[in-house]
Amino acid sequence: MLYQSALFILLASSASTSARALTARALKDNPDEGIYLVNCGSTMNENPTDLIVHDYVYYYNNEADGQKKQYPNINAKPTDPGPHDGFIYHINWDSGTQSSPITADLQGRKFSLYNLEDGDSAKQGDRVKAIAKLDNEELSCYKFGGEVPDALENGSLFKCSAAYRCTRDSHWSRTAKMVIYNATTTVSDWHICGTGQSGSPYTAFGQYSTWATTMQPPGTGYTLGGKKKCSISFSTSNVDQNSSSPISVGDVTRFWYAAVAPSIEKTIEYKNNMDYCSVTYPSGGYLAIVQTQDENPDVHDELQYHFAVSCEDKKCDSQPTVSVITNILAGIAGFATGLGAVPGLIAGVVTAANVLCAFG
Ligand SMILES: *[C@@H]1O[C@H](CO)[C@@H](O)[C@H](O)[C@H]1NC(C)=O
Ligand SMILES: *[C@@H]1O[C@H](CO)[C@@H](O)[C@H](O)[C@H]1NC(C)=O
Ligand SMILES: *[C@@H]1O[C@H](CO)[C@@H](O)[C@H](O)[C@H]1NC(C)=O
Repeated sequence: MLYQSALFILLASSASTSARALTARALKDNPDEGIYLVNCGSTMNENPTDLIVHDYVYYYNNEADGQKKQYPNINAKPTDPGPHDGFIYHINWDSGTQSSPITADLQGRKFSLYNLEDGDSAKQGDRVKAIAKLDNEELSCYKFGGEVPDALENGSLFKCSAAYRCTRDSHWSRTAKMVIYNATTTVSDWHICGTGQSGSPYTAFGQYSTWATTMQPPGTGYTLGGKKKCSISFSTSNVDQNSSSPISVGDVTRFWYAAVAPSIEKTIEYKNNMDYCSVTYPSGGYLAIVQTQDENPDVHDELQYHFAVSCEDKKCDSQPTVSVITNILAGIAGFATGLGAVPGLIAGVVTAANVLCAFG
């Protein structure tokens, strides 16, 4: 009997130690996770019986997904410590106290919240006072007010908005921009611009993935074609190529496909039944992720993902095909990022042709 209970205690303590270890590892690996405090109300309020409300705690692996109005990875009903009159009410997110916090069980991870003080003057984005924790990790909460989808996927019946969003202090806020040089490089050769051929924009930008995953030196050229040996090359600045945070190799490749490749212009001539193709690429540009750590606004940096197209005998066309540049910019305007931990729209910026186009 004694032996059995001793064994039981031993098992129980080793189980909780490994659960703690697992949780600690999950937290350490995921600085971008976040919590949204969500209130939903019925959209059909003609009939009082339809006036249903429900409240949630949403968990996102990647907090930016909440700002992109995506479904949460986990949702849970919060405990509601507040007293209420009547039948129809929303939780008051400021009703938690240290002895009676608002809590939610997020598939085994415990969220708790108390002493939230909004002080009516808080605007969207302002940090609000609150004691918020996800297991033992402290979170900072910000006034939000943005729309999010209904976790029940009942979009037509309920309208939901997140009053607050809470992130880890190690979380970074990020924005993206695409900088493009006002210059083009035209590559001309036989049989290069069909699907899968070397000069095709999708083949060319697909080389980014090859370059990044095989860790080739910066500037390694991938042949596009052309008697003058034209190639595309890539480099990065400030990027840990082994990490998929804040954006992955796939995110960058998809960005090139969606934002740049469709604007590249081709002209095909047939000579003696053979196709002779000219493909006009932007000479170069880069995607930049600007990031600031929430807790320490002095800690900020810019990650850059560059591409360049040049030929042995020329860096750029002597006159740029401006339509290629303006089409890329037009495509980027209104392009909501599909970029990992980066919410919002991508800004497009054109800069005068620079050192890329040193004619000689
Ligand atoms: C959508 O809402 C209605 C009305 O509250 C409910 O009966 C139904 O089960 C909900 N659908 C889902 C998928 O939760
Ligand atoms: C780009 O270059 C073209 C041709 O040289 C020029 O007309 C145009 O104003 C430039 N645009 C920008 C935004 O610099
Ligand atoms: C990335 O991973 C490779 C292979 O595992 C390794 O050789 C390289 O040192 C790593 N680079 C960085 C910056 O961690």
